[in-house]
Amino acid sequence: MKHFTNVHDIGPLDSAVKEALELKANRFAHTALGKNRTLMMIFFNSSLRTRLSTQKAAMNLGMNVIVLDVNQGAWKLETERGVIMDGDKAEHLLEAIPVMGCYCDIIGVRSFAGLKDRDEDYEERVINQFIRYSGRPVFSMEAATRHPLQSFADLITIEEHKTKARPKVVLTWAPHPRALPQAVPNSFAEWMNATDYDFVITHPEGYELAPEFVGRARVEYDQRKAFEGADFIYAKNWAAYAAPNYGRILSTDRSWTVDAEKMALTDNAFFMHCLPVRRNMIVTDDVIESPRSLVIPEAANREISAQVVLKRMLESL
Ligand code: CP
Repeated sequence: MKHFTNVHDIGPLDSAVKEALELKANRFAHTALGKNRTLMMIFFNSSLRTRLSTQKAAMNLGMNVIVLDVNQGAWKLETERGVIMDGDKAEHLLEAIPVMGCYCDIIGVRSFAGLKDRDEDYEERVINQFIRYSGRPVFSMEAATRHPLQSFADLITIEEHKTKARPKVVLTWAPHPRALPQAVPNSFAEWMNATDYDFVITHPEGYELAPEFVGRARVEYDQRKAFEGADFIYAKNWAAYAAPNYGRILSTDRSWTVDAEKMALTDNAFFMHCLPVRRNMIVTDDVIESPRSLVIPEAANREISAQVVLKRMLESL
């Protein structure tokens, strides 16, 4: 695998999940693969799970790891070409990226959407510049429009817990006090659309995702109707995608919070969320603490999804 930014880069999902479960059962089987190889993880935004799980995955493979928080201790980076750099940004990404590439074998990048300019966000300028100028294999640790390591971990978690060949999986919008990118729901939809699951997306009107991510999913504006008979409920907030409201909060309606009364409409569904989660905005305490909550197994599988991706990249060096 050269780069990993979306579901297509991983190839057939059944093989990827099989490899993930094998690695999970024997995660130190390939420690020689990463010997004398260095992973550089570059964060333009905060992280708990991605930082820890990806570093652990690299260590499982015998790699050395360098972590750079761009906004803490590094020079402030200019990302636009043609800008007269007379402000507070001391270095341009076009020099910084190839320099970073000198010190490592593989690069992971986290760079969220700015939520101001839809075209700019959906062009994925930052991660694409890393792919173009670093000279190294690059993987996404959440970019502007997708979070594929999370979605791969979500898929592994569903495969581990499903009791039907074709489960009903529902992605539901839920309220949040701050505007959040569409990367997690876009990516979850992209990966679910690559399976044969019965996949439904529910959200208030105005929160439609980009058509290329909605794909074959059924969109249901009545959240209760969407929950009926579901096997997995995947909750997430996102800001509006559609113009002219791109990046805006249109609703904080807490009648969309996932609670026990709505979960009772499902077929004893599991509850999923990528974390971090705002309790009693996105989901009530009793639902996230219930035995049907998979939020911790999902987070645990982040180590496994990252390890599959890193292993495949190391094998391609
Ligand atoms: N789910 C996830 O990516 O968590 P972090 O933002 O903490 O990395």
